[in-house]
Amino acid sequence: MAVRSVTATAPGKINLCLRVGALRDDGYHDLATVFQAVSLVEEVTATPSAGFTCAFSGPIDVSHVPLSDDNLVIRAARAIAAASGYDGGVHLEVIKRVPIAGGMGGGSADAAAALVAVDALWQTHLGKDALMSIAADLGSDVPFSMVGGTAIGLGRGEELSPVLATGHFEWVLVPSDHGLSTPTVYRELDRHRDEHRLDIAPIAASPDVETPLLQALRGGDPQLLADYLVNDLQVAALHLQPELGATLEFGESHGALAGIVSGSGPTTAFLMPDSTAAMDLVDLFTRRGQRALRVLSPVHGARLQ
Ligand code: C5P
Repeated sequence: MAVRSVTATAPGKINLCLRVGALRDDGYHDLATVFQAVSLVEEVTATPSAGFTCAFSGPIDVSHVPLSDDNLVIRAARAIAAASGYDGGVHLEVIKRVPIAGGMGGGSADAAAALVAVDALWQTHLGKDALMSIAADLGSDVPFSMVGGTAIGLGRGEELSPVLATGHFEWVLVPSDHGLSTPTVYRELDRHRDEHRLDIAPIAASPDVETPLLQALRGGDPQLLADYLVNDLQVAALHLQPELGATLEFGESHGALAGIVSGSGPTTAFLMPDSTAAMDLVDLFTRRGQRALRVLSPVHGARLQ
């Protein structure tokens, strides 16, 4: 009997460390990052259809998500059709939980879940390597959402190697009302670096992940990890949304071990000592009129439901 529909999930991410090298000729920056997948997942259901269509719903406002061929889930499905020679179409229903344009890889997670769901629906047998190569073509963060867990990302962020992390970490996430476009944040960082080039350290040609961060992850100690959270894009995100500074300060003075802008922002992520402190901080942000979510890390990557 023909398969009626297939559902897959894929996680959003936090960058525990994000070191950005110089601008490359192809418009990208060489990165050294440590990704960690968080328990905020996108869900994609693929159903056979004549054409390629998608629809979005979920607990966040999805009214501005473009449903055109540019959408990453449609691009993911078309890429699988091209690679496998499949000549049908698919309808993709996405339940969105990761903030849009929030620096948490939500669009990348949609693409990763779509790849896994469509591959299974069409039974393409493309194999892991082919899927990972399609993932890297779709976006720098898509391969990480495929594998999940904790991983170092080099190159554009798509060259992954696993990192040993023990235990779980507790986070509070504070999404912003207004998204930030990733290219705009990188451009702002380049502008800032250019303006202050006489005052700041030279930009590393190939940035590195600091060893003590990897040791903190191995030990599973949030107190230690807090000292090594770093994001080179934070200064650029703060220029574009100065109010993030007050959010970071509020979290850090109300129980968080450390606060950081997630990826290109503007979501802020607070590392918490335990679940009680995390629940308390969610309450405090809510009373302050800011939406806040408690999540755990790391979680697994894209998989069938
Ligand atoms: O790969 P992705 O489509 O997610 O990248 C979006 C944009 O973010 C790129 O067009 C580029 O402007 C910026 N970017 C970058 N360096 C990276 C990753 C992304 O400059 N390593």
